[in-house]
Amino acid sequence: MTNRHFIIDTDTASDDAVAIIMALHWPDVTVDAITTVYGNVPLARASANARYSVEFCGQTTPVYEGCVRPLLRPAVHAEWFHGADGMGKLGQLQPQRPAAEKHAVEELIRRFRAAPGAITLVTLGPLTNLAAALSIEPRLAGWVKECYIMGGNANCVGNVTPAAEFNIWCDPEAARIVFHAGIKCLMVGWEHCRFDAALTDDEMAAIRALDTPRAHFALDCNAHALQVGRESQGASGMMLPDPITMAIALDPRVCTRRSWHYVDVACAEELTRGMTVVDELNVTDHKPNLEVCWEIDRRLWKEILCQTLH
Ligand code: BDR
Ligand code: CA
Repeated sequence: MTNRHFIIDTDTASDDAVAIIMALHWPDVTVDAITTVYGNVPLARASANARYSVEFCGQTTPVYEGCVRPLLRPAVHAEWFHGADGMGKLGQLQPQRPAAEKHAVEELIRRFRAAPGAITLVTLGPLTNLAAALSIEPRLAGWVKECYIMGGNANCVGNVTPAAEFNIWCDPEAARIVFHAGIKCLMVGWEHCRFDAALTDDEMAAIRALDTPRAHFALDCNAHALQVGRESQGASGMMLPDPITMAIALDPRVCTRRSWHYVDVACAEELTRGMTVVDELNVTDHKPNLEVCWEIDRRLWKEILCQTLH
């Protein structure tokens, strides 16, 4: 079986942790490194959560710490959604190993330079680390094999404002740099985790019944997000945007409709800050810069999740 190499850039909280576990248990994927960024929680907590998740899987994947705030703005976190430590009801998780020494931005450049066209990048948080790396080394765009971005909302409802999704809203300037850098990217919007893609009570019970440490961990660390999602976002069940994006990266068949478009990000501090504006009908005649995921196979996504928690 061919071995694919991944780097995961993440603001590790509850759903990021599940995505990390999935990648670490996928047969033909090696996760070379994890780079962390502020976002759901401050950087130090994201790093600790990522290292704990790696250790929980019995692995030694290096975790590098990156940016503590957006390029131009103060950091805003989402503990209200993921719980004070980002991991729901599990408390302040303490990993055994420290973070790797190098800065995440430097490490992204070093690793992609060393293996041009060989490594897939999966981003699960604000795009600050990648934008900073591209600003230092624009050739990076051509070295990334492909990039799966959990972020945005293709011309539809947002989760942090009516217009925007959290990862892009946090650092819209960074997202704009990444979107226009010439990287082969697939944007997987937040909308894909809603409705039938959310885990129902029966599906959560079936995962619980797997009775593996991974299955319990995945459900427990998302318990707070489940409750808040139900109370404040009308969620029908457990919404897992990062794991859905990871499922697509692991098995691209999960994305059943995709197409290339010109996509830009609204950066002004207005109602639309962080909105991902997709020129779906090509009315601007601008060259497409991003591939957009429009539909997913919900059955396959859930199958992949269960397979990796087994
Ligand atoms: C994104 O923001 C975070 O809350 C999740 O981890 C996910 O990456 C969803 O908007
Ligand atoms: Ca995330």
